[in-house]
Amino acid sequence: MEFDFATPVERRHPSGGDWPSQKWHRYGDDVLPLWVADMDFASPPAVIDALRARVEHGVFGYGLVPDSLRETLCAWSAEHYGWAIEPDWQLWLPGVVPALHMASLALTDPGDGVLTVTPIYPPFLRVAERTGRRPQQAALQAPAAPGEPWWLDLAALEAAITPETRLLLWCHPHNPTGRVWTREELAGLAELVERHDLYVVSDELHCDLLLDEGARHVPLAAAFPELASRTLTLWAPSKTFNLAGLTTACAVIPDAALRRRFAAVVKGLQPDGNVLGLVAAEAAHAHGEPWRQALLAVLRGHRQTLVERVAGWPGVAMSPPDSTYLAWLDLREAQALERLEGAPQRLLLERAGVALSDGADFGWPGFVRLNFGTTAKQLDAALKRLDGVLGG
Ligand SMILES: Cc1ncc(COP(=O)(O)O)c(C=O)c1O
Repeated sequence: MEFDFATPVERRHPSGGDWPSQKWHRYGDDVLPLWVADMDFASPPAVIDALRARVEHGVFGYGLVPDSLRETLCAWSAEHYGWAIEPDWQLWLPGVVPALHMASLALTDPGDGVLTVTPIYPPFLRVAERTGRRPQQAALQAPAAPGEPWWLDLAALEAAITPETRLLLWCHPHNPTGRVWTREELAGLAELVERHDLYVVSDELHCDLLLDEGARHVPLAAAFPELASRTLTLWAPSKTFNLAGLTTACAVIPDAALRRRFAAVVKGLQPDGNVLGLVAAEAAHAHGEPWRQALLAVLRGHRQTLVERVAGWPGVAMSPPDSTYLAWLDLREAQALERLEGAPQRLLLERAGVALSDGADFGWPGFVRLNFGTTAKQLDAALKRLDGVLGG
């Protein structure tokens, strides 16, 4: 089946309604936005059809999580990750970021340490402070040479652990570097988590967007069953099927006691399911696979385009992402920016009219994150603008 990933969808001033999006409305009309992590593609036709049928029903009272949705996620997990999960391990929630905060409240006490690695998706850096816990961070190991991978620095992670550390917020695959962690890295992590008796939240939101042909996601709790009783895995259809605005995610918690602790905190602080989001999630998992495969081919092509274009920007380095539609660019040595004052994100916004995410928000100033989840036409237009500023 053919899907259309080529025709730009107007998101700034759509005819028929004023539906502002964060991505397209934060900056002026002359700016091309490649920042916040949603894609410019319409969701799979099967999802849109299911939503249309639900909207036609016309009644939007409180819903329940359908058993059929739980079963589809079990089937998806078994088929794609080889992990047999149970329907009652699933707690459906309005988002992954709220779940990170809820996990901190449920699994730690005031003053406990909440650890993460940097660079990292910015909300990870705020969880500890927002929940009255102590923020703890360890840097990843930066690429040894331009284009080489980022690595987990286990020694740095261990050095950041104190007797107060109770929880590790882990991102697998990793936003912003796009790294898919190797089994060796994860084994080291698992050993450390057990030895220091930590809980882990494994945010696996990008796990259905592994770009290399044949690559298969292995959930942390599946790879290391000994961790399952201390791990809360977060999944959602929002990145893969471009459904973030339908605020629907799932915490998978095999351990009954841990599940009860988490559920007790969630209750009252978060709304019950979004009835449209639940319908979309089920349709995506039940019928979205051909669309996902087509999307992956498009993103693979965009990654290659980016590798070629970045090679023409003297002093700019990028390690090609293993997953998702985000690229993490090192601009600290960018020749074009050398004599200019200001953060690279701001300079590129002002001089190229392209909005990227500022690395400083991820804990690493001097970097930017570029979202290539857009049509080839829009990506090319933005890259031409960047060529004009960063090109040799
Ligand atoms: C790693 C990661 N976690 C969580 C989120 C946000 O999830 P949600 O919209 O469900 O809160 C994002 C969005 O970009 C993300 O990249």
